[in-house]
Amino acid sequence: MAADKKVETTGLMGWIDQRFPLTSTYKAHLSEYYAPKNFNFWYFFGSLALLVLVIQIVTGIFLVMHYKPDAAKAFESVEYIMRDVPWGWLVRYMHSTGASMFFVVVYLHMMRGLLYGSYRKPRELIWVFGVAIFLCLMAEAFMGYLLPWGQMSYWGAQVIVNLFTAIPVIGPDLGIWIRGDYVVSDATLNRFFSFHVIAVPLVLLGLVVAHLVALHEVGSNNPDGVEIKEKKDANGIPLDGIPFHPYYTVHDILGVGVFLMVFSAIVFFAPEMGGYFLEYNNFIPADPLKTPPHIAPVWYFTPYYSVLRAIDFPMLGLDAKFWGVIAMGGAVVILFFLPWLDKSPVKSIRYRPNLHKYIYATFIVSFVILGYLGVQPPSPVGNIVAKICTLIYFGFFVAMPWWSKMGTFKKVPDRVVFHAH
Ligand code: HEM
Repeated sequence: MAADKKVETTGLMGWIDQRFPLTSTYKAHLSEYYAPKNFNFWYFFGSLALLVLVIQIVTGIFLVMHYKPDAAKAFESVEYIMRDVPWGWLVRYMHSTGASMFFVVVYLHMMRGLLYGSYRKPRELIWVFGVAIFLCLMAEAFMGYLLPWGQMSYWGAQVIVNLFTAIPVIGPDLGIWIRGDYVVSDATLNRFFSFHVIAVPLVLLGLVVAHLVALHEVGSNNPDGVEIKEKKDANGIPLDGIPFHPYYTVHDILGVGVFLMVFSAIVFFAPEMGGYFLEYNNFIPADPLKTPPHIAPVWYFTPYYSVLRAIDFPMLGLDAKFWGVIAMGGAVVILFFLPWLDKSPVKSIRYRPNLHKYIYATFIVSFVILGYLGVQPPSPVGNIVAKICTLIYFGFFVAMPWWSKMGTFKKVPDRVVFHAH
């Protein structure tokens, strides 16, 4: 054991500390982990994402006790959970609402990163792990949605898996390999169940640990984008840092309280959320012979689905579907490169020129429009708007090395700006 670590030497804690780094881990990551004192509400969403992760895992464990991954029984087993299993309806609605709330929280968490330049040096890996988490979440939600074996489960999976068949040469075989059949079937349901319940959650948990280890290695950014480790007192403690525990554990309780109110309101009063969290068509059992007139993914996928639909023209001898898939995948993959695309001399939006604020606003508005268009049936006007918004989406990233250097920047203060409430 390292001599410099102050640990208990007597009693039960002493016994544990001599065998396991409990006190030193508690100090390093909680009571002596110094976080910037100027966190605002944007900093709630990381801990809220952790909370939703726990909700999903716990409710998921109980759902698996009663769910049957069998094409002939899956739909009925979900109805059984809803009607006959004691509190089953609550567990199921918590899980389905949790899926959507996960994306609400994670989208806001990512937006905070964007606003305060939290992906910039030395936090590139926190961001890269974050984007990998986002990809895993998408895979997890997509496969989970097949499990109730409703019309939307079935046809949504059919549409998305069919996209892979657009890849030249290997596409058709790839489609069969993913489904385990020529169409979405019992074989598909079984493998999606296996991935949803164990494979993807394991990867997700590993990535979340990596995300937090990277965060604690370099320390949190803050709304001013000032590195607090650059100004320390005689004991080596950042002048603008406060111990994570008790200050932020207590601070985060506020976020958790507000979140649980919203979460409970949805679970108890509007679990379908007007068809956005649970689509109406999914209350009809899957029927491979009856295609629903309008197949739309759940809201959190719709910005990317709109990008897919916007690319409806062939290029370089390859069909539109292929380019749509490339654009849709590219729209997520491009996020990995953000730390290296942004060349701005300051991190936080607070000290950037107004021009940058307009560019961010345009980007966020077009992302929301893409999301809206993705839930609507295709239309000629919608198609043009989706094309423009897709251009803005990619333009934001591709032109970032140039626009991020433009304009007059404000002077970044030496210390964080904090007004006690
Ligand atoms: C399961 C999903 C996730 C969990 C549980 C999670 C958890 C956390 C936590 C607890 C923090 C510290 C508290 C905070 O700064 O809010 C954090 C920070 C951060 N996360 Fe995540 N995160 C998740 C997904 C993501 C995603 C998808 C991204 C980006 C693509 C991301 C990017 C970041 C960044 C850049 C920071 C540092 C922020 C700063 O210091 O200003 N995270 N995350």
